[in-house]
Amino acid sequence: MSAYDVIIIGSGPGGYVCAIRCAQLGLKTACVEGRETLGGTCLNIGCIPSKALLHASHMLHEAEHNFAEMGLKGKSPSVDWQQMQKYKQSTIDSNTGGIEFLFKKNKVDWIKGWASIPEAGKVKVGDEIHEAKNIVIASGSEPATLPGVEIDEKVVVSSTGGLSLGKVPKKMVVIGAGVIGLELGSVYARLGSEVKVIEYLDHITPGMDAEISKQFQKTLKKQGLEFILGAAVQSTEATKQKAKVTYKLRKDDSEHTLDADTVLVATGRKPYVEGLGLDALDMIMTKRGQIQVNDQWRTSVDGVYAIGDVIEGPMLAHKAEDEGMAVAEQIAGQHGHVNYGVIPGVIYTHPEVANVGMTEEQLKEAGRDYKVGKFSFMGNARAKANFSGDGFVKMLADKETDRILGCHIIGPAAGDLIHEVCVAMEFGASAQDLAMTCHAHPTYSEAVREAALACGDGPIHM
Ligand code: NAI
Repeated sequence: MSAYDVIIIGSGPGGYVCAIRCAQLGLKTACVEGRETLGGTCLNIGCIPSKALLHASHMLHEAEHNFAEMGLKGKSPSVDWQQMQKYKQSTIDSNTGGIEFLFKKNKVDWIKGWASIPEAGKVKVGDEIHEAKNIVIASGSEPATLPGVEIDEKVVVSSTGGLSLGKVPKKMVVIGAGVIGLELGSVYARLGSEVKVIEYLDHITPGMDAEISKQFQKTLKKQGLEFILGAAVQSTEATKQKAKVTYKLRKDDSEHTLDADTVLVATGRKPYVEGLGLDALDMIMTKRGQIQVNDQWRTSVDGVYAIGDVIEGPMLAHKAEDEGMAVAEQIAGQHGHVNYGVIPGVIYTHPEVANVGMTEEQLKEAGRDYKVGKFSFMGNARAKANFSGDGFVKMLADKETDRILGCHIIGPAAGDLIHEVCVAMEFGASAQDLAMTCHAHPTYSEAVREAALACGDGPIHM
């Protein structure tokens, strides 16, 4: 039996960041992980592998659509799917290996195996019991299931199978127009699949600013994705190589079917708490099956904390990371906190879509007085040179105080651009503060500044 100040269960972005920060703060730390490699869903079967496929398929798209115009002539590249899978795997390996290196560097012990909590202060892995003054549950999430839809990870797949298909399907049906469905759907559309997306709501990407969502749908349609909105999937029937998807249109209850080589089920994720022994601990859970925590991430069991996808809030790697750092600081007697009002969200399609703060719909609902500053990437010199004029920045600021309340971007590098707004919001900046900050020319960032200018006397290049 070994004794630790902290044992963290799960090595995803929440868990590994928490472990490293705990060790940096002088706590004797271990992290339990049952997978062969560290990094959790994000590094092994989520954010990182999907980004490799998004990058490769975007390169193909550039070669097919823009090379000739730039004077780059020659045979267009063709898809070697096996090689693309190897590239994806090498990206995973270098990232998961990187976490292993960081654990060694920071003297975090990796306890290999699946953990349970037999009682407060104890973590069981295999036959061994480890003592821990503090336990942090960071066990993440798993794909949610849909009644009538059986995932076999071959023909009917979750995001896990969707990243490792045997070949590029001719016809793909995606269930759910959320982040996973659209990122992976756009990968396969670019690789040549005919992609149809079935979505329950009347619009794509629930929770996104409606104007951005509309523009996003138009852009994806241009890229070949077909949308069937207001449709509830009833069931899938799969044979060895094909599947039939049955859905009902909500407006008239009519039933329809679609054939596909691959069906990607992307209808959300749920907390992964299997095997932890939470029932026996009488752990208080929310109605949605999440572990209930207070504002210091303490659960109802003494000395046990929870962070990331197993608790409330957006299921985002960086939200989990921030909670991981904050909990480590709390355990070390400091005052770690997370500003949930400034957590960016990014969809890594091309163009990217990014947001932070409130949407226009939320501001209306809250009865806030606000102003809108918009700027199209068509007015941005760098974007025009790079065939990236499609999209815009929308800044929302308080009508009276000019304080930035939210920002929504669809356009080139949106996922990077959003962060200057995050920093501005953290410092309580006004749109004018951002507008009066010198931005290098020619950069995409100028579009953010122009949107801030548009909240005041007006943009220059529009
Ligand atoms: P999601 O919650 O983003 O979207 C699910 C969609 O499925 C919704 O639009 C919903 O209306 C629809 N839906 C549900 N039941 C349906 C039915 N029976 N028929 C038709 N449509 C139906 O979930 P998603 O895309 O699976 O992602 C899961 C989680 O992972 C999310 O919290 C997401 O934020 C996170 N994630 C984040 C990424 C990023 O930040 N880039 C990348 C991948 C995942």
